[in-house]
Amino acid sequence: MSIDKNYFNKFIRATEKAAIGAFPFIGKGDKNAADKGSVDMMRNELNTIDMNGEVVIGEGEMDEAPMLYIGEKVGTKNGPELDIALDPLEGTNFVAKNLPNAFSMLAVCEKGNLFSAPDTYMEKISIGPNLPKDLLDLDNSVEKNIKLLSEAKKKNIDKITACVLKRPRHEEIIKKLENLNVNIKFISDGDVSGAISVADPNTNVDIYLGIGGGPEGVLAAAALSCMGGQIQTRLVLDNEQLTRAKKLGIKDEKKKYNIDEMIKGDVIFCASAITSGDIVDGIKDLGEKYEVSTFALHKDYKIFKKIKNFHPKK
Ligand code: FBP
Repeated sequence: MSIDKNYFNKFIRATEKAAIGAFPFIGKGDKNAADKGSVDMMRNELNTIDMNGEVVIGEGEMDEAPMLYIGEKVGTKNGPELDIALDPLEGTNFVAKNLPNAFSMLAVCEKGNLFSAPDTYMEKISIGPNLPKDLLDLDNSVEKNIKLLSEAKKKNIDKITACVLKRPRHEEIIKKLENLNVNIKFISDGDVSGAISVADPNTNVDIYLGIGGGPEGVLAAAALSCMGGQIQTRLVLDNEQLTRAKKLGIKDEKKKYNIDEMIKGDVIFCASAITSGDIVDGIKDLGEKYEVSTFALHKDYKIFKKIKNFHPKK
């Protein structure tokens, strides 16, 4: 079944409000305050929506997150059962330091259709649409994946662009990409945008690879599922995290997840920009009101939109 079309605008409003919640903290160096601003606003807005919603990817587990924790019920309890993955502030550093690409985002599926990833690291590899299904594999060498992609895209290896989160853990991947003469687009944070940039015709990114947050991997999968892209992931778990993952029902900790196993059926994805980014402009303060831009997708209705809305200041 599809998620009723009427929910699309309601969820857009939730990320718009969350983005406005972080807006006063841009450039103020306080990422926790910015995060709280977004969380409060998103939670209030979600609780006005007629649904039996449950947060399956959230701010953390119940004992560590006072609000929007994994398992928290949201909505008026009057309406369909929906699972929600949310990140009220993706790119806390970006807001704190007034850097581009900070977003408030969420994804919504019908109950049981959204992968409940624990809040751990995740290996990820993503590519855009119109490529053979399951073309790449996390167990292939970097060289093999790049060669397969170059052949499938009929693009020389030195014309391929790979997006990589700049972290010491990626040194080996980076060395291999450099040896292949692949162009590298480094990002300092915000790997949801990085992972979905492969499906955005306005960027020239061909592949995203590396290790980032698990929740961010699920949000990226939701967007890519609407955009026809592909992502393969695998959780990176230490012993303590393994116990938590088992509580969430993960039986095989080494399992590789393809996009269809992470996102089943219909999905809505919304990302409202706080600071300006590659995909949409950041919030504009117009005096009496805010202008908020959102990248919003609804898979079953093939909706793929960049939307601007205005919110009066109180
Ligand atoms: P926050 O917004 O929660 O700070 O996350 C930003 C982020 O860059 C994610 O996009 C990414 O998945 C993760 O952090 C990477 O984690 P780390 O900074 O520990 O490498």
